[in-house]
Amino acid sequence: MKVLITRKLPGEPEKLLKKNGFKVSVYKEDKAIPRGEFLEKIKDADAVLSLLTEKIDKEAIDNFSKCKIVANCAVGYNNIDIAYAKERKLIVTNTPYVLTDATADLTVALILACVRRLREGEQMMRENKFDGWKPNMLLGFDLKGKTVGIIGAGRIGRATARRLKGFGVKIIYFDRKKRDEFETEFLSTRVNLKELMKQSDIISVHLPLSKETHHIINKENLSLMKKSAIIVNTSRGDILEEKALIRLLKQKKIFAAGFDVYENEPNINPDLRTLENVFLLPHIGSATVETRAAMALLAANNIINVLNGKEPITPV
Ligand code: DGY
Repeated sequence: MKVLITRKLPGEPEKLLKKNGFKVSVYKEDKAIPRGEFLEKIKDADAVLSLLTEKIDKEAIDNFSKCKIVANCAVGYNNIDIAYAKERKLIVTNTPYVLTDATADLTVALILACVRRLREGEQMMRENKFDGWKPNMLLGFDLKGKTVGIIGAGRIGRATARRLKGFGVKIIYFDRKKRDEFETEFLSTRVNLKELMKQSDIISVHLPLSKETHHIINKENLSLMKKSAIIVNTSRGDILEEKALIRLLKQKKIFAAGFDVYENEPNINPDLRTLENVFLLPHIGSATVETRAAMALLAANNIINVLNGKEPITPV
């Protein structure tokens, strides 16, 4: 049986798949496989190990003639038309669990970068503008005693809260369901989104992207943020109405924002590059050697299971 891997990945999932008797074809270049080539190659694939850069929409799914599983090498699966996949009895898997810690680590890095103004400090050093210690230079704010609002208290939200707890913060959360374990672990209260935006000093976004969460953080609720507050997003760009946030940042109506994800990746809004109070990263939440290898191998193991007639490990 044939497996298509759409990019060379850490962890060498092709080796594992070959060891299990599959014919593997890997798109060798380190860029998204061109759409035409993708649509052609999937025609005779029994399984596809895909990335978030491949749009697996109706057109792509209709091109599968015998594909049983799309193993997306990401926890997010907004690149896949899940409803249509279900209709066509196509199994879709993602890679939860293995990237939780790496993404939470990066979220904390973004938070610290924003509250301690690391970008401005780093730039000052590179531009040779540091002319000595000054008591009023680049003042940020303490985390201790502040209120953190976690939007989406699932695995990554929870791992982020766990890390932040060590800084002595109070944690509140917004989630569509009540999370008892989260509340017990962090002595936390569930609030509605408006309350969270109003009360928080640090807001961290951890929602999956869906029709319901698209622009859930928008002009109206962003305008409720404190002038001294920051917001960071390591989930998906489209959850946040970027233009509205940029407006607030320009007018200095909030302290700062940290982005790992954007509405129109990789073509980010050029205004972001000009703002002093933003910290920008290129969607690297899960980018560690260990995590990316674990994601690729989990995706490969999902394929091995399904093509051997077993249950997938992490079905969507
Ligand atoms: C994911 O897993 O959804 C990330 O965005 C890519 O690692």
